[in-house]
Amino acid sequence: MAIIIDGKGVADKITEQLKQKISQLQDKPHLAVIQIGNNAASTLYVNLKKKKAEEIGIKSTVISLDENIAEKELICKIEELNNDNSVHAVLVQLPLPKHINENNIIKAIAPNKDVDGFTAQNTGDLFNGIKPKAYPCTPKGVLKLLKEYNIEIQGKHAVVVGRSNIVGKPLAIMLLNEHATVTICHSKTKNLPEITKQADILISAVGKKVIFKDMVKKDAVVIDVGIFKDENNKTTGDVDFENVKEIAAYITPVPKGVGPMTIACLMENTIELYEQQ
Ligand code: GUN
Repeated sequence: MAIIIDGKGVADKITEQLKQKISQLQDKPHLAVIQIGNNAASTLYVNLKKKKAEEIGIKSTVISLDENIAEKELICKIEELNNDNSVHAVLVQLPLPKHINENNIIKAIAPNKDVDGFTAQNTGDLFNGIKPKAYPCTPKGVLKLLKEYNIEIQGKHAVVVGRSNIVGKPLAIMLLNEHATVTICHSKTKNLPEITKQADILISAVGKKVIFKDMVKKDAVVIDVGIFKDENNKTTGDVDFENVKEIAAYITPVPKGVGPMTIACLMENTIELYEQQ
C-alpha cells in the first residue's frame, strides 16, 4: 500500500511561508490574470488563483476579455501590463480561443513578468540549465513534492506521459536537470505499458484515464497531474488510483495532489518576480 503524497498539505505549508514573507515586504506583489472567454474550467482555475492570492496578501487583478477579441488587441493589453510598473506578474490563462495563436501571445509577455515561465527566454534558460525568471508552476510543484518526500531523482528512470508545453516538456527538462534518465511518452507512443513499467518515477499529464495497475512497476513513485471530470461528474485524474496505490511506493491523489501545488508555486513565482523587479 503506497504512501499517499499530501499535495494539499505541502501547498498549505508553502502558503503559510508565503504569508510570512509577504508581511515583511514593503509593497504587495501584483499578479494580473487575463482570461479570454468563459471556458468553465478556466473560470474555476482563475477563481482559485484569485482566492489564493487574496489569502496570501498578493494583489490580483483579473482581466476578463471577450471570446472574440482580436489577437492584436490581446497583445496590446499584454503590452500595457508589461509597461505598468505596478504589475509584477502576468498570466494569460490557457487554452485560448482557436482564432488566437498561443505562441504569438506568449511571445508578447515580458520575460521578467512571465509568471508561468512560458516565454522563449525562460524556457530557453531552463533548457540551458540556467535559472529562469520563473519555473513553470506545475513542473515546479511536482519537483517540490518529490523533494518534500525525500524521493531521489538522480539516476532514476523518470517516465513522463504527455508532451504539453505547460507540463510534459518543461517537466522532462527539469527532471533531466536533476539528473534523472528521462523518457517522454505521448499519444503516438508504441507499447506505452512496456515503457511505463520501467519507470521508477511515473508522471502522467494527459487529462484522460491512461495509467492502470499493469502499467506500473512495483514500488514506483506515481505522480498524477491529470485532472478532469469523469462520467459521473466526479473530479479524477489520469491514474487508476484505487488499484495503482496497491503496488506503488508513493502516489498523489486527485484532487488534493498536484493541483494545490501548482497554485502555491504560482504564488511563489509572483513573489519572486516582484523581488527581481
Ligand atoms: N491552463 C492550464 N494550466 C495552466 C497554467 O499553468 N498556466 C496557464 N497560463 N494556463 C493554464
